[in-house]
Amino acid sequence: MSHRLYSDLAAWWPLFAPVGYYEEQAGYVAARLDEVCPAKPRRVLELGSGGGSMALHLRQHADLTLVEPEDAMLNVCRRLNPGANHVKGDMRSVRLNRIFDAVIIHDAINYMTRANDLIAALTTARAHLRAGGLAMIFPDDTEETFAPSTHTGGQDDPVAGHGLRYLSWSHPATGTTYTIDFALALRSANGSVELVHDRHTFGVFSRATWREAFRQAGFLEPDIRPDRWREDVFLARAEVWDAAA
Ligand SMILES: C[S@@+](CC[C@H](N)C(=O)[O-])C[C@H]1O[C@@H](n2cnc3c(N)ncnc32)[C@H](O)[C@@H]1O
Repeated sequence: MSHRLYSDLAAWWPLFAPVGYYEEQAGYVAARLDEVCPAKPRRVLELGSGGGSMALHLRQHADLTLVEPEDAMLNVCRRLNPGANHVKGDMRSVRLNRIFDAVIIHDAINYMTRANDLIAALTTARAHLRAGGLAMIFPDDTEETFAPSTHTGGQDDPVAGHGLRYLSWSHPATGTTYTIDFALALRSANGSVELVHDRHTFGVFSRATWREAFRQAGFLEPDIRPDRWREDVFLARAEVWDAAA
């Protein structure tokens, strides 16, 4: 499903998700990296890297490979993270024939709307991890924690003279999905404002479904821990990967 936020409106992404917003979250990821791989250099793969706001904070901690399916988001990401390796791809199917110390799927795993998609994305993560490597998966919610909500955000760009504000409004789940309506107000430098509606569909799965998806993808039992922002972060180790399997 095409999302305007990630295609024709991608240039607004830095005002929708300012890099500062991801700094503490990246600190959490860096601390887990220190545990799993104390020695540098470390190789990290992010699947669904979007505009690269999170990656910006991670690049001092690791060599980054960033996978994203949308050209417009890749362009935003390249401008922010010129030193990283960018690859166009889908987290369910991309194969880079390289292995990493850690694989991160941050707020992009929400776009997996069926259990089979979730298993495919986790299988991709598993296929790119060295033995003992760590997958860090950050869904917005699980079935146990989800509740419809509204949020507002956005920023001005004082240099360009334009700004963005948004309201996000999530609705009750049906089966394994829920929808989020984004109302975006885009203010140009000349003072005109364009209003845009962008609807996204997110997957939401029970912890049992997550555990089973990790198992089917070839991971050991994941740790399910809270961080400051959500109740369920999934940290899963890879056993020895049998490339012939
Ligand atoms: C909220 S953004 C991620 C933001 C990112 N964490 C950052 O730091 O800027 C979600 C991204 O997931 C991407 N995405 C959606 N479906 C995907 C898929 N099947 N495979 C990989 N990425 C996907 C979208 O194109 C979008 O750029």
